[in-house]
Amino acid sequence: MSVDFSHNPIFSGPFAHSFRAEVDIHDCEVEGELPADLDGAFYRVQPDFIYPPTYANDVPFNGDGHVSMFRFDHGHVDFKCRYVRTQRYKAQTQARRALYGTYRNRATDDPGVRHLSGGTANTNLIFHAGRLFALKEDSPPVLMDPNTLETLDDYYTFGGRLKSETFSAHPKIDYATGEMFNICYEAKGNGTTDVCFVGIDKTGELNWEAWIKVPYAGMLHDFAITEHYIAFLVIPMAVNMEQMRKGGVHFAWDSTLPTWFGVLRRGGDGSDLRYFKGPERSATHVMNSFCDGTRIYADMDMSQGNQFPFFPMLHEQFDFKRAAGRLTRVSVDLSKSAETYDMEVLYPEIGVLPRTDERYWGHPYNVGFMPVTDLSKRLDDTLTGNTGLVLNTWTRFDHNTHKSTSFYVGNTSSLQECQFIPRSQNAPEGSGYLVGLANRHVEQRSDLLILDAEQLDAGPIATVKLPIKLRNGVHGHYVPGNLLAEK
Ligand SMILES: [Fe+2]
Repeated sequence: MSVDFSHNPIFSGPFAHSFRAEVDIHDCEVEGELPADLDGAFYRVQPDFIYPPTYANDVPFNGDGHVSMFRFDHGHVDFKCRYVRTQRYKAQTQARRALYGTYRNRATDDPGVRHLSGGTANTNLIFHAGRLFALKEDSPPVLMDPNTLETLDDYYTFGGRLKSETFSAHPKIDYATGEMFNICYEAKGNGTTDVCFVGIDKTGELNWEAWIKVPYAGMLHDFAITEHYIAFLVIPMAVNMEQMRKGGVHFAWDSTLPTWFGVLRRGGDGSDLRYFKGPERSATHVMNSFCDGTRIYADMDMSQGNQFPFFPMLHEQFDFKRAAGRLTRVSVDLSKSAETYDMEVLYPEIGVLPRTDERYWGHPYNVGFMPVTDLSKRLDDTLTGNTGLVLNTWTRFDHNTHKSTSFYVGNTSSLQECQFIPRSQNAPEGSGYLVGLANRHVEQRSDLLILDAEQLDAGPIATVKLPIKLRNGVHGHYVPGNLLAEK
């Protein structure tokens, strides 16, 4: 059986091919001047099918985790990319064909791999207590060497302390205490309403867990921490067992379901969990969150309806207007007996994948960043093949002044997620660099852009010009060089 991606609709338009390569570039070509004080590694991961999907209705989120590292070294940068050697990657490359079926539906997998992890490690990376985690929300983490990108452990359970079958791709670190927290949903298997919250101390020991139930099983992609609380939004991207029995993907959007904002005490046993009800909404990412006394705030990329055009809709057609996310502040006051949560749209910009100065994770903050779609500057769809909203702008939001500043990438390129890097560990909030990938659709290449995070409208101060075109990634993470040297 030849390896042929050409018949699958996932591989069309600007991304007609899976990338599949593992590349090293020593001393990348750079336009402009890389900041001399930039020393560390920017990691990002893209879903990148090593073999063509076996199901025509599969989704891009089912690709194999392929990690890129840009290692900054005082004015120079080296590039490296490697597949994560997941159990799935190893089984499929050995067999020289796809053995796994459609997205998170184990019944569609080859019976010979059903005892193996289905994790693809394709969503996010995070560095904590000297370990680099490659993450997918349906499985335990995979550990990678932060310098070589060699896979060190394809099923890491914190020495057996992780009882959940899953571990989300959006852990949060409270840098005031060094603790890392995470949400683990469908924790007792596909379709289960069991959710486990875990805490890992600054030495890497998993030393807290709290088990709760959600009103219905669905995608709990991200969550929020504050100094005293943990919060999460249950959205109608519900697990659909009937669809899975017919060989379909894991989720479907059920607009008849309400949203629920759940809040529990950080470090407690989960028995204090309270739910607050809301209308049909979607929000997949939290910019940041904090508490002020008994009131909890979580800023999210909230939309009225489903944000993922490739997941089935149970009751209506996908609607790009209802899919448009806007930075929205969700809040509740725990001292009140209200049964609903409050929502305030903070800015008019349409975007997804909000980020912040992560030193402020879980604490009051003023600065955030988000890739947005400037509708007045739409990219020609014939270039991108994209029928949705193209991210063409990175925007900085200042909640103090309620002002935003932006960088627009031009009409022949599109942007991926952006990541903030502080100028130094003691730099003021939001003082540093904003980095991320631009897809150059005419040249069929990717560039890594480095901007002064306080002057986005001035454009990149340096552009790392890659001779290759990477696929659209999901998330990235930056690690200062002194932490890498320690290991
Ligand atoms: Fe995410």
